[in-house]
Amino acid sequence: MRLRRDWRCAAAQPAPGAELIYPPHRRIMNDMAEPFYITTPIYYPNAEPHLGHCYCTLAADTVARYQRLKGRETFFLTGTDEHGVKMVKTAAEKGMEPAALAQSVSDVFRSLWAELHVTNDDFIRTTEPRHERAVGRIVEKLLANGDIYLGSYEGWYDEGQEEFVTETEAKNHEFKSVITGRPLVRYQEPTYFFKLSHYAPKVLEYIERHPEFIQPDSRRNEVVSKLKQGVADLSISRSSLQWGIPMPNDPAHVVYVWIDALSNYITALGYGGDDPSRLEKFWPVNVHLIGKEILWFHAVYWPSMLMALGLALPKMIYAHGWWTSGGRKMSKTLGNAIDLVKLRQIIAMSGEDALRYYLLRAAGFGGDLDWTDADFATSYNELGNVVGNCLNRVLNMAGKYLGGVVPAFSAADQAEAPFAAFHEAYQRFGAKLDQHYEALELQECLLLPVELARLTNGYIDSRAPFKLAKDPAKAEELKTVMGNAIQAIYRVLVGLLAVLPHKAAEGLAQMGVDVAGKSLADLLEKPLPPGHQLGAGKPLFPKMDIT
Ligand code: ME8
Ligand code: MG
Repeated sequence: MRLRRDWRCAAAQPAPGAELIYPPHRRIMNDMAEPFYITTPIYYPNAEPHLGHCYCTLAADTVARYQRLKGRETFFLTGTDEHGVKMVKTAAEKGMEPAALAQSVSDVFRSLWAELHVTNDDFIRTTEPRHERAVGRIVEKLLANGDIYLGSYEGWYDEGQEEFVTETEAKNHEFKSVITGRPLVRYQEPTYFFKLSHYAPKVLEYIERHPEFIQPDSRRNEVVSKLKQGVADLSISRSSLQWGIPMPNDPAHVVYVWIDALSNYITALGYGGDDPSRLEKFWPVNVHLIGKEILWFHAVYWPSMLMALGLALPKMIYAHGWWTSGGRKMSKTLGNAIDLVKLRQIIAMSGEDALRYYLLRAAGFGGDLDWTDADFATSYNELGNVVGNCLNRVLNMAGKYLGGVVPAFSAADQAEAPFAAFHEAYQRFGAKLDQHYEALELQECLLLPVELARLTNGYIDSRAPFKLAKDPAKAEELKTVMGNAIQAIYRVLVGLLAVLPHKAAEGLAQMGVDVAGKSLADLLEKPLPPGHQLGAGKPLFPKMDIT
């Protein structure tokens, strides 16, 4: 089988002291020849999902849909992270076994993604045999390399974050969790350590040489400055906990939940199993999409593990911002989140696509976000007044004046002055959209088409086809204006397909276009042909009372 990717780094087992060699960094997202792999974090099933989880998953879904529309073979992974002390404690509070809690809440996540039409290709649970077996292999390999040794840990632990905290950090935050504000817990136990201090300087060097590796830039700078302060070896086993994957060399210990969890990104591809074909096709991952509170694990522990395993590093790790409420991160632990009940109400009222739109519209991707019902209403109205209205006017007028038949769209039509004013926005639309998706500028990915719709509305206002229609001498001019407006709104809807999969397809269906099985190139390469029959308009985003 032809290796589609350099999924192993060239020096899988470097001689001691030798430099690891990594595959040359290619373009991150848009290399058409290459398959595309994107992941979300695997979520803790200690409590039901809320807005924050939907946000990350729907953002990843948008990117995955876009890449599929580009014609790339795409693998989109999500799942649940089921081991660790947090699961044990939550289960005990509920009078349940951890396995039963994990099963029931994991099922809620899985069915929520189906309900939201999320297009994940796999859903991995860390309690599945395929994962547990493979984690055993990963640890065996690290042991065989001499990267693991037995010692003992004494220090602070943040049980909500499943994170070891240094004495200085603990002191600086009054021995409370930075994320949840809950008291840290003191741990003292024999534990195996991973030689993180050996790999961390290599990771630092890699980060500094590859600015696109950790995004956004501000987040990368935080990681770099923390790395420069020096990093100790990492405790990777727990001897006071039973709920986990046993250390293969010493079953009295279980593997630290983060080592277990991070491994999912390769165990789901079949690492440590019998069939490496998915791994060969999709590793290294194009984007690990995560929230900013878990960047350190992804930017430091995970690349170190991959180096130790002789695997290529992710192409991009993108840390998005937080939905906040009352100035604090919405969280299951704090109970201040927009929950499934409210999310379902919002969807029942305004549709799934309006939620997808608001999530990405509310702030530049990467920044923090604050939910307000007023902002939600504004974003819904933007869709209705700009995109929905543009489509509706165009279809109604085309029906009335042209029998719904698309007129010719010549170079001369496009050169007509008021259209020429935004012709560049029209012409460079596909290329610009691609640039924004490549950089994960997801807010721009929807603003670009919405802006084109706004320009088209302005064009219609200024050229007033309803006036032209009254003057038989202006029949040709009317065709030009209508033709231009039809092609522009067509492009707007195609550009919104990944963000608004239902509404954009519905709008295109009204235009007589069936998107099933079509790629972005199929849809954007050529304008709608002359003679194409448009359908009837029906409001895509009906007016509603949102308070
Ligand atoms: O950290 N705003 O799982 P988790 C935006 N199991 N995104 C939010 C959010 C908020 N208020 N709250 C949660 C874990 N998220 C580990 C991950 S990966 C190998 C292991 C999203 O259940 C965001 O993407 O705490 C965040 O990183 C993730 O949910 C954390 O989910
Ligand atoms: Mg969390």
